Amino acid sequence: MSCFPTPGFRYVDGRMRAEDVPLAAIAAAVGTPVYVYSSAGLEANWRAYADAFAPYRAADGRAGFQVDLCYALKANSNLAVIRTLAGLGAGADVVSAGEMRRALAAGIPADRIVFSGVGKTREEMAAALAAGIHQINVESLPELETLSEVAAGLGRTMPIAIRVNPDVDAQTHGKIATGRKEDKFGIDLSLARQAFARAKALPGLAPVGVAVHIGSQLLKATPFRNAFGKLAGLVEQLRADGIAIDHIDLGGGLGVPYRPDDAAPDYAAYAAAIHETVGHLGCRVTLEPGRSLVASAGLLLTRVNFVKDGLDRRFLVLDAAMNDLIRPSLYDAWHTILPVEEPAAGSPLSPVDVVGPVCESGDTFAKMRPMPPVAPGALVALLTAGAYGAVMAGTYNSRPLVPEVLVRGGEWSVVRRRPSFEESLALEQTPGWLSPPVGA
Ligand code: LLP
Repeated sequence: MSCFPTPGFRYVDGRMRAEDVPLAAIAAAVGTPVYVYSSAGLEANWRAYADAFAPYRAADGRAGFQVDLCYALKANSNLAVIRTLAGLGAGADVVSAGEMRRALAAGIPADRIVFSGVGKTREEMAAALAAGIHQINVESLPELETLSEVAAGLGRTMPIAIRVNPDVDAQTHGKIATGRKEDKFGIDLSLARQAFARAKALPGLAPVGVAVHIGSQLLKATPFRNAFGKLAGLVEQLRADGIAIDHIDLGGGLGVPYRPDDAAPDYAAYAAAIHETVGHLGCRVTLEPGRSLVASAGLLLTRVNFVKDGLDRRFLVLDAAMNDLIRPSLYDAWHTILPVEEPAAGSPLSPVDVVGPVCESGDTFAKMRPMPPVAPGALVALLTAGAYGAVMAGTYNSRPLVPEVLVRGGEWSVVRRRPSFEESLALEQTPGWLSPPVGA
């Protein structure tokens, strides 16, 4: 069985490749750490959704029930990645003016963009109105009032969905569960009808949809089914109240298997849950998958700087750190770590801590991970890192922002380069009241 979660990466003649490109060649040319993405991996992930919903399309090619996939840019907003997904038919889910500009720059039509998020500014609302995007998902009464003012002030009407909080536990990590009543997201289900009545009365707003997003990295269909069922009930009530709901936005997509023994989520069961819970409403359905489209299509390529033997354990000190991939530090997330040179069959595994060079003990990618022998200077890959990897990277410890490479077949291209130290310094200036630095 392949240890790779995607068709994008594999060992060929004992060396790991991204499609047809040896990872060692990318490391030699670009340096490490570097994110490497596979176009074939992105396509395979897209196809998993397309295939799952295909049975629900009418035989004559018309949509049986129309499902729109709006890629959640927050997972990976590299322009080349967005453009690849746009080429496959993706719209966009954005949560800031910056993401909206990226979606537009990557060629996603404005009328396929949904704007989500709990704290949009007036400027962002005005930018969304000016761009003519498909829909804003509103998350609170103050946001409703503000958007009405901004839209009416510009003489425009904005189609909106109201995001409701269904109080459903997504059974995922607490930091990425978003649909419980104690979470900051959405308007409580019990207050939703009042919110819609208010939206209908306000100028500049066209309430056309309901939205929900209960969390990320869900591997089972049951919490989705619970939330979607509650939403369907709300649509029926709203229609009885005289509000013509014809859009329904079901939020982020499925989780991904990070560990080798995680069961792959069942896309067919997910599609069936959607069809069963909301299919009868005749609404246009929007999904906002992020992670599942990009996670397995990316890895973080890094070099072992030192192998350090402590009194208690052995450390592999990488040249990648928590500033490049924060998920293990922030969510105790697991990423499979493999040497780029395939270990000989039957190599003994011994437990090591895989760490970065940053000055915090939290800068740890894995603890007591069984690994084959890895020599200093060897390349290793942290798998399933295409989602919430590069986008969450920073420059802590004055480490340059990690670059990104996209592979397609035998071709590869740097799609975000590593900034130089001079470029980072050029963003800063020393105020005149500080004496010139020593040595200036
Ligand atoms: N729509 C909304 C409104 C969201 O808040 C999110 C994710 C998505 C869609 C996309 O969900 P996905 O398909 O990726 O599950 N940094 C965390 C994940 C944060 C997710 C935030 N919201 C991590 O690395 O696990």
